[in-house]
Amino acid sequence: MIKEILHADLTGRNSFGVAAVADRIVEFDDATSLRDYLAEHEEIRRGKTAVLGGGNNILFTTDFHGTLLHPTGTDFRVTGTSDDRTTVRAAAGMDWEDFVERCIGLGLWGAENLTGIPGTVGAAPVQNIGAYGAEAKDIVESVETLDLATLKEASIAGCHCGFGYRESIFKGILSGRTVITAVTFNLSRTPRPNLGYAALAREVELAGGPSLENIRATVRRIRGGKLPDPAVTGNAGSFFKNPVVAEDVAATIRREYPDMPSFPAQEGVKIPAGWLIEKTGWKGAALGRAGIYDKQALILVNLGGASGSDITALARRIIRDVQTRFGIRIATEVNIW
Ligand code: EPU
Repeated sequence: MIKEILHADLTGRNSFGVAAVADRIVEFDDATSLRDYLAEHEEIRRGKTAVLGGGNNILFTTDFHGTLLHPTGTDFRVTGTSDDRTTVRAAAGMDWEDFVERCIGLGLWGAENLTGIPGTVGAAPVQNIGAYGAEAKDIVESVETLDLATLKEASIAGCHCGFGYRESIFKGILSGRTVITAVTFNLSRTPRPNLGYAALAREVELAGGPSLENIRATVRRIRGGKLPDPAVTGNAGSFFKNPVVAEDVAATIRREYPDMPSFPAQEGVKIPAGWLIEKTGWKGAALGRAGIYDKQALILVNLGGASGSDITALARRIIRDVQTRFGIRIATEVNIW
């Protein structure tokens, strides 16, 4: 099924809650209906298009002059079992939290640490969502796509998705060229608690041990203490990525701040951007109607009526101050349109 909306108001379709208008939104519930629609509307396919999921990782700084493709399908089904693994396929429009809940309801392990992340199933592989020691890449078996140029459907194996820290080929070479229509996940029926995140391990133990429900409830509690609810305060989660720097850069900062948190990464040391921002004094501060959340400096918030430009103006100031103070250039995680 297809639904076309012209001159669409985007205010309620982005978690920052900033005002913007799209020329057209095309809602589709599966690959076939989208393919048939695009086959009949060559001009739309050849024009400017982008995919809009839950709008949880996007900042609109201007109106969108083109067509936003929005998945609405919520189909969820078990597609196979082998040894102690079960594969499930979910349509791109399914709410991520509904997906996590269904997996937990089926006793399947792998998605529980990713509870509470706002967004849709189709968006999960794009930025390889991650939290509390887990990432989408750990459970993505394959991603179904529709190529906008050829209208061919494909299934891309997880190992070919180029997953990295908040990265994938869908943000890279396939950006603007494909639409994700469904994702298949590979989950475990054998309990495999992932308690590498120290605070989570501690709290799960206090909550009665590592059951799926306990882990989910604990992650939600920890998240709730640090992250603002987008339904109440406009935000898009972490606005910046945690930078990875060379060991000598980290060592220089550590000499001045022996308590600096840091984590080994593939090509150096990951330093929490929230910590760097806090040290510049921006935590809890504001610039006009855009602010920094007082419990987690990685989160930029709409204090009410902020425009996309208000928020990017604040982001630029933060980037500049972190660069001046630490010589590290932090990059945005949120897509700025
Ligand atoms: N920290 C500070 N000040 C702050 C924020 C953090 O000093 O204002 C320090 C903390 O004390 C801690 C360290 O930084 O030592 C790490 O903090 P936290 O565990 O809160 O995680 P994060 O690195 O700030 C990342 C993800 C979050 C995810 C959490 C938990 C990124 C960009 N963000 O944040 O993901 O929920 O880990 O796993 O990697 C998101 O992507 O939208 C998101 C919220």
